[in-house]
Amino acid sequence: MNSSKSERYRELATQLSALLAGESDRTANAANMAALIYYGLPDLNWAGFYFRQGEELVLGPFQGRPACVRIPVGQGVCGTAAARAEVVLVPDVHHFPGHIACDPASRSELVVPLIEAGAVSGVLDLDSPLVGRFDQVDQEGCEQLVSVFLVHSRQYRRDLGAAGR
Ligand code: SME
Repeated sequence: MNSSKSERYRELATQLSALLAGESDRTANAANMAALIYYGLPDLNWAGFYFRQGEELVLGPFQGRPACVRIPVGQGVCGTAAARAEVVLVPDVHHFPGHIACDPASRSELVVPLIEAGAVSGVLDLDSPLVGRFDQVDQEGCEQLVSVFLVHSRQYRRDLGAAGR
């Protein structure tokens, strides 16, 4: 079961690399990544990004129901992951003090920070209506997907530098 789940994440990482290859627009890449995850993994009701602006996380591209636009760093699951610069996996959001309920159907959550040059630039957030939906395999799989996303961002900046912009 877990090996097929790991395999699914490997396939998604390959598909994500292909989707992002040669594209320089970060919003477009985040939008395609959110859609790939939302339609590529079972039992999700939200998948998307928040990007950091100062001491707030601001809603980025996502799939799912409309969500809270601004989350202070340090608040909710997303803000906690951003403040700690660590993955936060919540098996049951009803037992996470300060959880921000954008969609009352959400019961478990996985948030992976985007860390660039030692600083948190945003988070990837996955929600599920099932308690205990996410495990270590999901955490490692999503960390891998985030690293593909960030490698492409760095590649883009190097390309801009090479072009003299
Ligand atoms: N539940 C999150 C807020 C974002 S939504 O789930 C899309 C949190 O507590 O940070």
